[in-house]
Amino acid sequence: MLVAGDPKSGKSWVTGLLCEQLIVYGYCLCILDPEGDYTSLEALPGVVVFGGADPLPRTRDLLRALRHADVSIVIDLSHTPHEEKLEYLRSVLPALATLRRRTGLPHQIVVDEAHYFLHDPDVRELLDLDLSGYTLVTYRASKLHHDLLAASQAVIVTRESDPHEVGALYALCRSCEDHMTEQEWGLLLGNLVVGEAIALPVTEETEGVVRRIRLAPRLTPHVRHMAKYIDIPVSEGSAFVFWRDGAPTGRRAQTLREFVAVVEQLPVAAFDGHLRRGDFSSWIANVFGDYPLANTVRGVEDDYRTGSIADIATGLLQAIRSRYEFIEPEAGSIV
Ligand SMILES: Nc1ncnc2c1ncn2[C@@H]1O[C@H](COP(=O)(O)OP(=O)(O)OP(=O)(O)O)[C@@H](O)[C@H]1O
Ligand SMILES: [Mg+2]
Repeated sequence: MLVAGDPKSGKSWVTGLLCEQLIVYGYCLCILDPEGDYTSLEALPGVVVFGGADPLPRTRDLLRALRHADVSIVIDLSHTPHEEKLEYLRSVLPALATLRRRTGLPHQIVVDEAHYFLHDPDVRELLDLDLSGYTLVTYRASKLHHDLLAASQAVIVTRESDPHEVGALYALCRSCEDHMTEQEWGLLLGNLVVGEAIALPVTEETEGVVRRIRLAPRLTPHVRHMAKYIDIPVSEGSAFVFWRDGAPTGRRAQTLREFVAVVEQLPVAAFDGHLRRGDFSSWIANVFGDYPLANTVRGVEDDYRTGSIADIATGLLQAIRSRYEFIEPEAGSIV
């Protein structure tokens, strides 16, 4: 299965939804999670998360844990430097393929941000395409190795607005040309909203019929890139610029940590205009794409307007801190 779509369009969310359902139905999964998007699955029975702030499990230990049919494993690589992530996946994927050939477990192997790992000609050495059972998630499907794309039996697309990617997906669906032009197809994929997806008709049985899907609620909360956006700055142009009484104050926030620091330092009166206009929730939705957090913050802004909350700063900070883990930056680290 391939899950494709624009950045921040909900790919990891929908993949997490699929994982939840598979786990609930008793399947055993191994999820290779480069950004720490799947750790909340630990709330489900039999799911163990490795990695994160701890060292990654050795391949040997991982295989031992996966011998049990009632265990699913998430490997959180979000704290691992990029090169080490590549190295780790290159050693773990063939080992998982061998284990599965021998034991049938894990039933599904999920690789998020798959374009980082699965574009080289040696992709057949990493994945066992005959047994399949992979779910690959990427915003750059066009970068995946051709053999992988050709092996896709199901393709789920959250919004896709990049014409190059739209073209690559269109090329996957041989029977689609009879039903829709590439342009119509592009419009359809580009207009999906959060909470919607499309199942592309890549197999013959689907007879070229595109299915638009409304996504069910998640069982476990999806926390996006828990650590990623705390310290990674958004572009200059996307920074939050704090204004007061119609003039910029000179304070800006390019990271969530900087945003929180300003909210902590200044009295609520300093944010009156922003709170009334709902600027904080808009920034969080538009720049970070974190709609659940934006909704909570919008609630705080509404309460401010109606005067029904006494401590706005605490409300805001609680909303952010309960969603993102504020790990202290390591001394000397470059963020
Ligand atoms: N169906 C949905 N209902 C509610 N919130 C959603 C839904 N889909 C996505 N979101 C929220 O939207 C944000 C972006 O989703 P997600 O992280 O899954 O996107 P992505 O496409 O995987 O992004 P990236 O390209 O950065 O990996 C997240 O905060 C997520 O919780
Ligand atoms: Mg993602």
